[in-house]
Amino acid sequence: MIDQYGRKIDYMRISVTDRCNLRCRYCMPEDMAPAKQQEILEYEELLRVCAAAVELGICKFKITGGEPLVRKGCGAFICRLKELPGVEQVTLTTNGLLLEENLDLICRAGLDGVNVSLDSLDEALFRALSGGRGSAAAVLSAVRHSAERGLKTKINTVLLEENRDQVESLAALAAELPVDVRFIELMPIGFGRAMRRVGPEEVLEKLRGRWPDLEPTEEKRGNGPAHYYKSAGLQGRIGLIDAVSHKFCASCNRIRLTGTGQLKPCLCYDTAADLRTLLREGGSDEELKKAIACCVAAKPRAHSFDSPRDITEKKAMSQIGG
Ligand code: GTP
Ligand code: 5AD
Ligand code: SF4
Repeated sequence: MIDQYGRKIDYMRISVTDRCNLRCRYCMPEDMAPAKQQEILEYEELLRVCAAAVELGICKFKITGGEPLVRKGCGAFICRLKELPGVEQVTLTTNGLLLEENLDLICRAGLDGVNVSLDSLDEALFRALSGGRGSAAAVLSAVRHSAERGLKTKINTVLLEENRDQVESLAALAAELPVDVRFIELMPIGFGRAMRRVGPEEVLEKLRGRWPDLEPTEEKRGNGPAHYYKSAGLQGRIGLIDAVSHKFCASCNRIRLTGTGQLKPCLCYDTAADLRTLLREGGSDEELKKAIACCVAAKPRAHSFDSPRDITEKKAMSQIGG
């Protein structure tokens, strides 16, 4: 599908749950009441949406949460999605805590890549940022095993004032392992709205101190908005995802489905197509396709992260899927 600004939309992010086993400050810091089970789309319903989307030219899917692997059957769902004719790529974004025990299944399913969130290698800081849950060692072990299995593995670090000293040690994982390490600028969505952002210039300055030959590379490493840097001292690449200081909306390729079946044309705004009601009130496949196409037609030109009053999305990231 081509939207009204000439962008090709061929990628859908699917949040399979708003639940999570961590409580990261910027995402889901408190015990938020999760959606009721009956409000969350069933896997059969998700597959119906995906099949309709494929017919419209969506061929890449990203599975997100909350934490997608806390939902029972997520691995089996990935298998079924991969088997759907027309699906070219399925990738997963996870906090890594349940990754190791799911690796066999998702590798067999043919998952095309995994992005693992890791904000600190220092255990005390990890726990301070994750609501006292999980451990950096467990996440790191999953990252190692995932890379060993040959799964395309990337680390996602959201940059905060608290973890700015972790930049070099996290980036060094790209020297030790064949993984990309991406630093994400905090976006003013959900709880991130009330937190201070650390800019990408600081990251580059720190990294150039350690890897002076770091230089931009045009290589394609995924379907997302990251831009990458390489160095002879690194096996993987360093990525920056700087949605606020470098608006990448002109090359946006995506729509996102929340766990409760709302199809969002853009992260920044609360407009959405209610696919759940359509699915549950007997909507036909044609109607489903029409709703998806309308969502793409309604895609705004860009976010307004620099103008807080215009950010109409009030949901937490755990309810959207990042
Ligand atoms: P790949 O590089 O293809 O693996 O995926 P990705 O970077 O798109 O996905 P991931 O789930 O790892 O997201 C990384 C960060 O990018 C998260 O903070 C997302 O919220 C952010 N992000 C992903 N898509 C968009 C987008 O369309 N707009 C904005 N502003 N941020 C996005
Ligand atoms: N800004 C930027 N990234 C965020 N994520 C969650 N909340 C925010 C935010 N406010 C990240 C997670 C995960 C990805 C899906 O989104 O850390 O890596
Ligand atoms: Fe696309 Fe909206 Fe993300 Fe911009 S902020 S890249 S328009 S989804």
